[in-house]
Amino acid sequence: MPIFTTTTKLQNKVDEADIDLSAQMRLGHPQVPETDAAILETIKRYAQQVDRPIRVFQVHCRTAVFAAKLIEAMPEIQMVAHENYGELLGMMQNRLADTTVTAYTGKLREWQEPADIIISMGIHHHVSRNYLDQVKRLLRPEGIFILSDEFCPEYCTGKYAERIRNADSIYLAGGYVMTNAQEIEAYEKAGEISQMAQEIEYLRKHALWKWYRYVIDYAMEQDNLHVAVDELRGAQEDLITDSEKEHKLSPLIVERELELHGFEQRSKKSMAPNNPLELQSFFVYEFVPKA
Ligand SMILES: C[S@@+](CC[C@H](N)C(=O)[O-])C[C@H]1O[C@@H](n2cnc3c(N)ncnc32)[C@H](O)[C@@H]1O
Repeated sequence: MPIFTTTTKLQNKVDEADIDLSAQMRLGHPQVPETDAAILETIKRYAQQVDRPIRVFQVHCRTAVFAAKLIEAMPEIQMVAHENYGELLGMMQNRLADTTVTAYTGKLREWQEPADIIISMGIHHHVSRNYLDQVKRLLRPEGIFILSDEFCPEYCTGKYAERIRNADSIYLAGGYVMTNAQEIEAYEKAGEISQMAQEIEYLRKHALWKWYRYVIDYAMEQDNLHVAVDELRGAQEDLITDSEKEHKLSPLIVERELELHGFEQRSKKSMAPNNPLELQSFFVYEFVPKA
């Protein structure tokens, strides 16, 4: 009888405190290494253009895998890596111990030094959008905000795209996307969810499922059970409409969200431009504050 072995030693229960999932994602998750490379290239280009030392601030860097890579590639920059979530702060501090990167574990709203570049990488679908106010507060006038995330591949087309483009606000009510004050009021007073909002959520779940299936197959092909198991968890949370832990939205919705928060889009890059649209999830954007 053949004996199959796996190179991943998975514990019975994946214990986040022992496993650096951010590092694993660079090995077993599609479109993550491309994202690191695209952000690095954007920062290099900016630094060449301004031709002076720059300060880069990364919001919620988790275990600082990218920050460590960035400082190795660009030792001349000033880098601040921020994180105050979860149990992995020790891992982040260890990784940065022998570098010039400042590890900031306080509240974002209490940080005072402005930055030329602020990076939001893989966090937008996890966190409350209040962080965007802090990005605006901390960004230098000529600075850029690099937003990259794992999105739910685009599901807003036709009348749904029209609705998002014309939205007066983007507001998540129990996970449903509300687009104007009337809808928000109807939800808050009577728990009403419009037909359109329900249809958009239906489309999100189905697009999401195709994407997670692809990601989990990819992780298994790499024999990366850490990533596969974490993605199964992520899929479960993401498919529950009102889960606050994980809620990937379409790129179009986030673009409108940023616009309504006072940001202007300078560029947008897909990390898998040759894939079919349903497998294009990671994008890297450059935003600037609206004039
Ligand atoms: C995927 S990690 C970020 C990865 C990191 N930027 C990188 O490139 O390696 C998501 C971040 O969102 C924040 N977060 C907030 N709520 C979370 C949740 N429920 N699950 C995971 N991350 C959460 C944490 O600060 C965490 O570091």
